[in-house]
Amino acid sequence: MSATYHILTHKDLDKVGSLDQAFASDVLVGLSQTPKTLSSRYFYDERGSRLFQKIMDLPEYYLTACEFDILESQKTAFSTLMEGESFNLVELGAGDGRKTSILLEHFLKKSFAFQYIPIDISEASMQTLTDLLNKKFPELTSKGIIAEYFDGLKWLNHMNSRRNMVLFLGSNLGNFDKAHSRAFLHNLWNALNNGDFVVIGFDLKKDIDLMLKAYNDAGGVTAEFNLNLLRRINRELGGNFDLNKFRFHSSYDVFTGAMESYLVSKEKQTVFIKEISQSFSFEAWEPIHTEYSYKYLESDIQELAAETGFVIEKQLYDSKKYFVDSIWRVQKIDSF
Ligand code: AVJ
Repeated sequence: MSATYHILTHKDLDKVGSLDQAFASDVLVGLSQTPKTLSSRYFYDERGSRLFQKIMDLPEYYLTACEFDILESQKTAFSTLMEGESFNLVELGAGDGRKTSILLEHFLKKSFAFQYIPIDISEASMQTLTDLLNKKFPELTSKGIIAEYFDGLKWLNHMNSRRNMVLFLGSNLGNFDKAHSRAFLHNLWNALNNGDFVVIGFDLKKDIDLMLKAYNDAGGVTAEFNLNLLRRINRELGGNFDLNKFRFHSSYDVFTGAMESYLVSKEKQTVFIKEISQSFSFEAWEPIHTEYSYKYLESDIQELAAETGFVIEKQLYDSKKYFVDSIWRVQKIDSF
């Protein structure tokens, strides 16, 4: 007999579809809970990403226009921080790169010595972004990393010691509750060096009707975006959800400060998911929770920065003060 062992690598896991595995087990756990939940992190398959692009173009979804306004009108606030040194402009979840293009163009115009480093888990979106950048900014040095955010950041810091400005725009943090936000930001702090900057998009608390409209658009794109999750379960996990038997609902909880989204079963029914060999029964009007989109007070932002090792450098607001791109500096004291 001989005893051996094999360390599973990401490559091995890719072959057996480890991502599908995670999806399957998260769906199993989520639908077995009371109340039932599915995570918004699974919204973004190819169709879901397209639907989100469509949401960003909706007049009701004010967040995107606000952030464009901020970047357009206050781009010099970014450049003054990085003047005269070579640096990395890192981006977590770059999407289609439309927003970042404003900064890239500005930095290139100023002949800054920087490289753009988008970090994303999806090879497909990295390919699209790379093609776009090559066309739009032939003079730009861009070196994308396909990885989980923190793996990418740690590897980057190991490779070079240039200053980093890390963009985490679009209120993406808003999907995390307070504990997860804190953990995420502290992980970010850990992966960075003293004096590095992070730029975080926060959607501020505002008139409730405006927020309700943004997540209940008249054309039903957001509803389709949520229902797409059931479609994805049907396609990837062999589910038999009938999308007509569910309706989308979204509401604002003034106390937690979150827009909360749901898919509600319109009737009593049972759904079977082949890949996890399990059926799930729904009572009439039973909800599945799908997403939190947290909104922030000024004091929430200050508290989060202080708790996770950052100093707020600048608060950049749009003209209506609906949204803020908050620039934070990493503070590390040697004796810690
Ligand atoms: C991409 C997480 C910022 O929560 O506002 C848009 C996703 N959900 N409409 C958000 C979303 C419904 C969006 N984020």
